[in-house]
Amino acid sequence: MLIALGVTGGVGAYKAVEVARGLQKRGHDVIAVMTATATRFVGPLTFEAITRRRVITDQFEPGANADIEHIALASTIDLLLVAPATANILAKFANGIADDFLSTLFIATRAPVLVAPSMNTQMFSHEAVRRNLETLAARGVRFVEPGEGYLACGWIGKGRLAEPEEVVAAAEAVLRPEGPLRGRRVLVTAGPTFEDVDPVRYVGNRSSGRMGFAIAAEALRRGADVTLVAGPTTLEAPAVRELVRVRSAREMRDAVIGRADAMDVAILAAAVADYAPAERAAQKMPKGDDTITLVLKKTPDILGELGTRRLSSGRGPLLVGFAAETEDLVARASAKREKKHADLIVANDVSRVDAGFDVDTNAVTVIGPEGAQALPLQTKARVASAILDRVESLLSARPAKAGS
Ligand code: CTP
Repeated sequence: MLIALGVTGGVGAYKAVEVARGLQKRGHDVIAVMTATATRFVGPLTFEAITRRRVITDQFEPGANADIEHIALASTIDLLLVAPATANILAKFANGIADDFLSTLFIATRAPVLVAPSMNTQMFSHEAVRRNLETLAARGVRFVEPGEGYLACGWIGKGRLAEPEEVVAAAEAVLRPEGPLRGRRVLVTAGPTFEDVDPVRYVGNRSSGRMGFAIAAEALRRGADVTLVAGPTTLEAPAVRELVRVRSAREMRDAVIGRADAMDVAILAAAVADYAPAERAAQKMPKGDDTITLVLKKTPDILGELGTRRLSSGRGPLLVGFAAETEDLVARASAKREKKHADLIVANDVSRVDAGFDVDTNAVTVIGPEGAQALPLQTKARVASAILDRVESLLSARPAKAGS
C-alpha cells in the first residue's frame, strides 16, 4: 500500500527514517513529505535513498505542481502517517491551515490519518495542544501515544516520539484492522430531532449529537463501514462513508429502516422526539389567545420497530439503544431492553450535570444479555470505545453480512 510519511521538525525526526524502513520491510511503498523545519533535522537525501522516491519538501517547487501534486497524491495514498508530529502541525491540522505541502495534503486526502505526536512534556499537556488532539480525534484521526522517558530537552515525561516499531505496528493496524468490527456495516443515529410546528417553529431537545458522533468515529477507527444518520446538530461529523442528514423522527425512521437490512449493527444514540405536532401549520401561526394548545402525536419508535422486525423475521442487525433516565436507572433501562428487543441498552443518568446532554463526558451503565456494567465518568470518546468493546464481543459470535 502507498503511505505518505509526513515528517515535521522535531528531534524525533531521525526516527522517521526507521519508520520508513519498517514500513518498506512490510511491503509498503513510502513517499516522504517533509516540512521546511524537518529538513533542518534530517536531510531529504536520507529519505530519498531509503524510499527511492523524490522527497516532497516544498509546495511550490518547480516541477511539483504540474498535476497539482497534493491533490494527485491525496487521492492515491492509503494512509497519511505523520511521525513525528509537532504541536505546530497538530494546530494546523485541527484548524484547517494549509500553508505547506503536508498541511494541504491533510485537508485534501480522505485516506485514514495516523499521527505520532512528539514534543516536550509541558507542551504536550498544554490546554491548546490537548484541545487540538481532541478535535482531531473527534474527526477520526488516530494517534500513536508518545512514550515516556528522557526527552532531548532534559525533562523526563510524556512527549517522546513512540518507538519506530510501535509506529509501524500502529500503521499496520490502521491499514489492516484486526478486530471483529473490521468491514462490518454499522449504522449510527445521533443528535436530536426537530418536529415542526409551523414554517418557523419546532419542538426539539438539547441533544448535541456528541455521543453518537463519538461512536461513529470510533467505529471508523476499528475499520467498520459506517453510515451516520444525524439529526440537526452544529457539530462537525466524522468522515464516514455515508452521512444522512435528517430533521424529524419520521425522516430518521425512513432513513434507518430503509438501510437496516444491509447492516450488521445499528446503534441508536439519537434523542428522538417521542411526540411531534399532530399537524404542521402551512403558514406561520399568528399570536392569539393568552394560552394555546399544541396537540402532539407519538412518533414512530425506530428502535422498537427494528426490534420487532428482527423478532418476527429472525434476521436483522445487532441492536444497541440508549435510555435517558432520571431515576431507577438499571431497572428502567433493563425494562426498555426487553420491551424493544435490543441486545444492549446504554443507560445514562441525565440528572447529573457532568453526564448526558451537551457535555464532553458521560457516565453510563451498559445493560446486555449478561447483566449491567457501570462505567466510570469519562470522555464520550472513551465511553464510545467501551460500548464498541461490548458490541465486538457480541458480534464475534455472529457471521458477517454477505458482501461486507
Ligand atoms: N428511540 C427511537 N425512536 C423513538 C424514540 C426513541 O428509536 N421515537 C430510541 C432512541 O434512539 C434510544 C431509545 O430509543 O436509543 C430511547 O428509548 P425511549 O423509549 O425513547 O426512552 P427515553 O428517551 O429514555 O424515554 P422514555 O423513558 O420516556 O421512554
